[in-house]
Amino acid sequence: MTELFVDDAPVGETIVSVGQVASPVKVDASRYTDPEWAAIEAEKVWGATWQLACSLDHVKNPGDVFVYEVGSFSMLIVHGRDGVLRAFQNACLHRGSEICESHQQGLTELRCPFHRWSWDLEGRLREVPSRKGFGALRNDELPLIAGRVDTWGPMVFVNPDADAKPLHDFLAPVPAETAWADLDDFRCKALLSIPVKANWKTIIDGFSETYHVQGIHPEMLRMVDDVNSPQVIWERHGRLRQPYGVASPRLRGGATDQEIWEGFVEVMGGRVGLGEGSDAGECPPIPDGATLRDVLAEMIRDHFRETEGVDLSRFGTEQMMTMEQYNLFPNITVLIFGDLLQVVAARPGATPDDGYMDVMAFDRVEPGSPRRDPVTAEIEAGSYSMGLVVDQDIANVERAHRGLHAPGLTHLTLSGEECRIINLHRNLDRVTE
Ligand SMILES: [Fe+2]
Repeated sequence: MTELFVDDAPVGETIVSVGQVASPVKVDASRYTDPEWAAIEAEKVWGATWQLACSLDHVKNPGDVFVYEVGSFSMLIVHGRDGVLRAFQNACLHRGSEICESHQQGLTELRCPFHRWSWDLEGRLREVPSRKGFGALRNDELPLIAGRVDTWGPMVFVNPDADAKPLHDFLAPVPAETAWADLDDFRCKALLSIPVKANWKTIIDGFSETYHVQGIHPEMLRMVDDVNSPQVIWERHGRLRQPYGVASPRLRGGATDQEIWEGFVEVMGGRVGLGEGSDAGECPPIPDGATLRDVLAEMIRDHFRETEGVDLSRFGTEQMMTMEQYNLFPNITVLIFGDLLQVVAARPGATPDDGYMDVMAFDRVEPGSPRRDPVTAEIEAGSYSMGLVVDQDIANVERAHRGLHAPGLTHLTLSGEECRIINLHRNLDRVTE
């Protein structure tokens, strides 16, 4: 393999600040396009790491089964009759046929449609038609191939490797860092998967830096500080903290409160009850000693109390108005405000030039609220609006990937601001050694 990095900064419990790299970090462009590299990833990454499969709402009752597809194989997430979640490789032990093709509810068994072998929801073989033809076949020697499954908040993770270390060790320190947000009190409303002609890394890289706000999301410059946003890199994962309700320093003259207010309504007005296309009107009055961020935070809390009956009074201005964005190795980003949880994941498709962008949207609810039936669908890019900013990200991704095939382009050239992308590649190095 060619040398990947000219920069040799240490990996580990390292904090990388914007601009800290001594020189540009170079990453081999073929990692995004080469089938041989994709085959290495298939084995070392997708066959052996924790990845986000679905939400607890998707498998809320015994008999619920979710099919998680990644690259060339799929996993079943099964809610057993004993209330336990289990994961199995989606392959019949007879001749390997997939057992389930799509999300199912209320199953009492896992029956292969090809020759009708059947396992119970705990993965024990129960029935083999014309069993005598196999001679001495023992049910206890042919259980479904188990993987691991576990949860963080409302998110269900799966690992095809049955010997993998626990999810919470893998995710550390992110669950502890986000304990303030009470993630258990979110319910999934939608899981939408968008097939795109792009490598999974091209997709998730677009959610691993905000350097591109000035290029792709100019509307945001009035309402977000995309420059003074501290990033932290842990061993595997990373975090961005980004203040909303203030103008970008890239706007040389700054922005008035009226302009920031209009920008906020255009980008995320739904949080204050002003949906897409709403006229922002006059900026709300700002009391003495308060800031526009304080006023916006209070408006969001009021909106939630009035429309959802959800009390957000325990979350201060910082928690309501500064986004915490976590990037989890290898392919997941989790966006958190006090009122909001949204997750984007990127999965590989059939070739290095095919991928899926999964968007999982959640609603904040009162503790103990019943689980939902999320909308779960594969949709065409651009066929349904996911909000101005995510729509702009989707519209950019195929162009971003096509350029990586240019024969003269040997390397990506990355800055310290892109440290979460750099960290993804360092971790890919580590797991593919
Ligand atoms: Fe973006």
